[in-house]
Amino acid sequence: MNVNRRNFLLGSAVAARVASGQTGERIPTAVIGTGGRGSHLLQGVLAQPEAKVAALCDIKPDRLDKAASAAARDNPATFTDWRRIIDRKDITAVYIATPPHLHSEMAIAALKAGKHVYCEKPVGVTAAQVRALVAAVKGSDRVFVAGQQMRSYKQMGEAVRKIREGVIGDVLMVKAQRHATSDLNHEGTSGDWYFDVAKSGGYLIEQSVHNLDACNWAIGAHPLRACGFGATVLYKNDPPGRTIFDCGLLTFDYPNGVKMSFTQNVFHPRGMPNGNQYIYVYGSKGAVDLLANTMMYPSEGGAKPSPLAPKQEEQTHAHITAFYACVTQGAKSPADITIGATAALTAILGHEAMSKEKIVTWSDLGVEL
Ligand SMILES: NC(=O)c1ccc[n+]([C@@H]2O[C@H](COP(=O)([O-])OP(=O)(O)OC[C@H]3O[C@@H](n4cnc5c(N)ncnc54)[C@H](O)[C@@H]3O)[C@@H](O)[C@H]2O)c1
Repeated sequence: MNVNRRNFLLGSAVAARVASGQTGERIPTAVIGTGGRGSHLLQGVLAQPEAKVAALCDIKPDRLDKAASAAARDNPATFTDWRRIIDRKDITAVYIATPPHLHSEMAIAALKAGKHVYCEKPVGVTAAQVRALVAAVKGSDRVFVAGQQMRSYKQMGEAVRKIREGVIGDVLMVKAQRHATSDLNHEGTSGDWYFDVAKSGGYLIEQSVHNLDACNWAIGAHPLRACGFGATVLYKNDPPGRTIFDCGLLTFDYPNGVKMSFTQNVFHPRGMPNGNQYIYVYGSKGAVDLLANTMMYPSEGGAKPSPLAPKQEEQTHAHITAFYACVTQGAKSPADITIGATAALTAILGHEAMSKEKIVTWSDLGVEL
């Protein structure tokens, strides 16, 4: 890659040192939100030879202390106010792993301050949040990676590539589910925001955004409209004040008449056949079980099922490694703003359809991608 482009992406402070021939320079990185996911991301950052943990932020001192201990090797500064991270000129890259309703505001501020951003999914819980973030990323020259890490799964990537090349003919329909065997732990680390729909967006937006992204990837498009029903059928007012659904049934309509049926619930007993999550992609020549093993089942009578993509060793922190490849080598983002926003908007579309109990169209969301 052209050296100017590389320096451009690195940011002036680091670039100047790299350009001056100093070796071993590591990218000063901050993690905002050091709860469950932030701690996992932190391990990923620590595993990257080109990164160093320069700062950590969380409003909860115990989580901040735990993260600081985990990153003691790099002696990071610690903050409880995330804006202090944004103000630090020496920080080049920021991970955002706070509750979902905060992602858009934090990512926009980080981009405006010239930082590269790895933003956890969903990139927003409302169309307005997503719209604002899309505008900020498009107006920035910084790297943006959404935490849709399935995009870095090698086996799934190869299976999707073959589907798009036509191995099952034209994609006609997708049937998918994300069922959980229990409600999220009410006393767990994210129990103080997850059950509030304004903060998490609910199960579809907070959790199923991964599955919906994979469905979009396989179909090669985003839905044009959605309808469906959602409700709290089991965990009524449990925990008290709960405003998220525990079950939902949706139909999405895609370009060229492709249809998708998607269900979610949190009361799927363990051990039922087919597992609690699957994505079946049906085409004119066969179908693929995309989540389990990428097996392809030909429609032609007598033809045997076969694996569409070989099982591969998946690197635990592949998405994080890819983020640094974007920063240091100008590599293509594995989950750019179009992917991250499309995934979030697909979930928001479904959530709005369930909440309003009417057909909601993509254009109703008012976000230009
Ligand atoms: N990509 C994945 O597979 C994956 C997996 C789990 C979670 N996530 C996402 O990561 C995000 C965090 O989820 P989690 O499970 O780690 O939740 P969590 O509650 O364990 O962690 C969130 C942390 O953010 C902190 N926080 C809240 N407000 C803050 C603020 N204003 N400034 C700084 N810190 C603040 C909280 O104190 C908490 O420690 C969510 O968006 C979630 O969807 C992604």
